Amino acid sequence: MESGFLQLPRKAAYKILLKDFKCREKESGPSLDFCHSSLDKAYVTELINGVRRWQKLLDYMIEKVSLRKKRFIKPDILIALRLGFYFLLFDVQMPDYAAVDESVSLLSDRKAKGFINAVLRKYIRSKENYKFPEGNTVKDIAVTYSHPEWFVACIVDAFGKGKALSVFETNNSIPPVWLRLNSLKIKRKEFEDRLREMDVEFERDGEFDFLYKASRIRDLLLSPLFKEGAFYVQDRTTVLPCAFLSRVNDSEVLDVCSAPGGKATLISQLGSNMVKVTCIDKTRKKTDLIRENVKRLGVRNIDVVECDFLKRCDKIGNKKFSRVLLDVPCSNTGVWRRRPDARWLFTIDRLNSIVRIQKEMLEKAFSFLSKDGILVYSTCSILDVENKDIVENFLCRNADARLISEKLTIQEKKGPDGGYFAAIKRS
Ligand SMILES: C[S@@+](CC[C@H](N)C(=O)[O-])C[C@H]1O[C@@H](n2cnc3c(N)ncnc32)[C@H](O)[C@@H]1O
Repeated sequence: MESGFLQLPRKAAYKILLKDFKCREKESGPSLDFCHSSLDKAYVTELINGVRRWQKLLDYMIEKVSLRKKRFIKPDILIALRLGFYFLLFDVQMPDYAAVDESVSLLSDRKAKGFINAVLRKYIRSKENYKFPEGNTVKDIAVTYSHPEWFVACIVDAFGKGKALSVFETNNSIPPVWLRLNSLKIKRKEFEDRLREMDVEFERDGEFDFLYKASRIRDLLLSPLFKEGAFYVQDRTTVLPCAFLSRVNDSEVLDVCSAPGGKATLISQLGSNMVKVTCIDKTRKKTDLIRENVKRLGVRNIDVVECDFLKRCDKIGNKKFSRVLLDVPCSNTGVWRRRPDARWLFTIDRLNSIVRIQKEMLEKAFSFLSKDGILVYSTCSILDVENKDIVENFLCRNADARLISEKLTIQEKKGPDGGYFAAIKRS
């Protein structure tokens, strides 16, 4: 009975992971339309995200036990083994024999079934021979915490081993959910009452009274509360740059990399819809996302412009703004716990090219800032090369630019995401 009921979600997770493996270029959220209950959806998501997170450690175990390099293992077998080891190492509810049965049943080829069976049983028979690496080398840490070696080297170097390990642990944990109450649409009392009616536990933030840490999200996103625009899902760290940009009500804000509009709509909310915000993003799909959020949240005074900021933006012309927000595309290293596949898709080559784009964007964004205006540069990265190095380099080359505030937040378990902002004033 147990196996009949749960087998379908496991098979579904297997299929999604296999498809993932075969088309690596694109990171996409899994389609879970086939799931009939929210319990199934949650379980499939947990399996997929778990295997994605722990991929390097799972592959290490597979190679150690099977005595085969993973490049010599066919993708369908490799994915079934990843799931098998995930069940054995992380699914405390599942007995060992069921982990083997479930993994073997994912394939129909007899030889493949035999191989999976043999590898998993070999591990079960002598678990004590297959410990995680305990050494202090980058290679060992990268396996045990399942992160790319380049990232481990970089973070240990930047923050020291203790802090670095806490970053890796955080990246492997389930992230908390933050809701931003939309005061343009709902009063605090009604919002809290309706959360209580839905049995959502929540905790109000100590500094930003419109922010709530909530106990769950999936059904909230389907609720009337969401459709009515009562809240936006937004991590605490992303609120910090906005605080600088909404203090002056008569300012005009240019939001250069705007989609899906989380920061732009918060700036409008903090300025009670009095601030004029011009939002730019690159594609129609992205600008449509901004428009959708603007509509749902009841935000006014927003212009949405579709253009590649690094090329010509005719609709902006030579206009100057007293506030500019530049929330650049980045490595997302501060939010890897929310995108378990991102750590494997992002490469050093990509980092180098993205840093070039960030530098170019900052130069150009500053040219739209009026005298005495403030530009806020922000990322959801914790890497200095995308953060303070870019800003320091920019300040050295621009005598009329002065740093007035800067903050790096490092992600914490049950706490905020990682991210950075720097506020630069033009004299
Ligand atoms: C970090 S996201 C922005 C998140 C957004 N500020 C928010 O708070 O919801 C970066 C955005 O930059 C946009 N982008 C990247 N290159 C761009 C370009 N050359 N011109 C305009 N937008 C660009 C991407 O499409 C993406 O939506």
